Amino acid sequence: MGKKLRVGIFFGGKSAEHEISIISARSIIKNLDRNKYEIVAIALDQENRFHAAGVNPVIFDDCSLKLNGTIENIVNICQQIDLAFPILHGPFGEDGCIQGIFRYFNVPFVGPDVLGSAVAMDKDVAKRLLTAEKIPNTRNVVFHRHEHDTINYEKLSSELGKILFIKPANLGSSIGISKVKSFDDFVSAIDEAFLYDNKILIEEFINGREIECAVLGNEHPEISVPGEIVVKRDFYSYAAKYCDEDGAKLIIPAQLPSNISDRIRKLAAKVFQTLCCEGMARIDFFVTDNFQIFVNEVNTIPGFTDESSMYPKLWEASGLSYKKLLDKLLELAIARHARNSNLRATPQKSRSDNVIT
Ligand SMILES: Nc1ncnc2c1ncn2[C@@H]1O[C@H](COP(=O)(O)OP(=O)(O)O)[C@@H](O)[C@H]1O
Ligand SMILES: [Mg+2]
Repeated sequence: MGKKLRVGIFFGGKSAEHEISIISARSIIKNLDRNKYEIVAIALDQENRFHAAGVNPVIFDDCSLKLNGTIENIVNICQQIDLAFPILHGPFGEDGCIQGIFRYFNVPFVGPDVLGSAVAMDKDVAKRLLTAEKIPNTRNVVFHRHEHDTINYEKLSSELGKILFIKPANLGSSIGISKVKSFDDFVSAIDEAFLYDNKILIEEFINGREIECAVLGNEHPEISVPGEIVVKRDFYSYAAKYCDEDGAKLIIPAQLPSNISDRIRKLAAKVFQTLCCEGMARIDFFVTDNFQIFVNEVNTIPGFTDESSMYPKLWEASGLSYKKLLDKLLELAIARHARNSNLRATPQKSRSDNVIT
């Protein structure tokens, strides 16, 4: 048997989804085939410092990291692994930052490359690309911090509707997001969103079901069956996601007419390619009662717990087990790296260039 691939699993990190990331990593470490892979677990603490964590799942038992204090050098880590699997969420982990490190140090990695990660993370840029491709998405208006004083509630609510969603452009986990129905709510929601980003989106409210699709692949992505998230609260808020065990229920596959389901799956593939994604992504939609479909957003590193995360569950329902999904993601990372390694960085010298005169 050949040498085992050394897979670096990166998890934790400075993110509201720190704990979800740990639970996801625990599932991945438990399910990776030890006959094929040697696992190097790398925990990122709340300051995004790198620690060698060991692979004993007991260390993650209460979802908090028990770190021994030695901070590792990322350059050394990159030299010790054949492949990286970042299972980090939000800024720094999902937005192209850590992907840039892997690319710089020539380490193949799971999930979209730098550009796809950055584009999918920025809800404003993502929407502009979708709109350019005529992919239906929620209407919105963007404001930068310096435009704060020009934000006009009357004008926006007459354009976009009485109920509005206010969000930071680059975040996740519903952090900084508000659903507003009045001027007073609006003012505090704007301030709240600007706490987290210099750019915010004000969006029309879509009264619809939340439907999600999993995408897997590089040049020829495959699309899972769609699933539905049924939320008990006013919307799929931070509290519904993480503070309330019964905050949301997953229905897989989503109960939809087959033509609608097909349309959503085709759209998911188009969204994935439009946003320059490779490897994996979860594409989230709203579907109204009369089956109008809107793209909401794209997550390039979705939750990955084997018990309750939508992305692996959608694949399981589509005939791909959690273990096979992991194999496939690692294969895709290697395939992309091999493809890109063949690219030239500079023009090849012609013979005459080499003649010494
Ligand atoms: N335009 C909208 N209409 C209706 N609900 C929305 C809208 N935008 C966001 N939501 C609700 O807020 C949740 C979080 O918003 P989302 O844009 O997905 O941000 P995040 O990246 O933080 O998950 C969604 O899952 C949905 O419940
Ligand atoms: Mg979301």
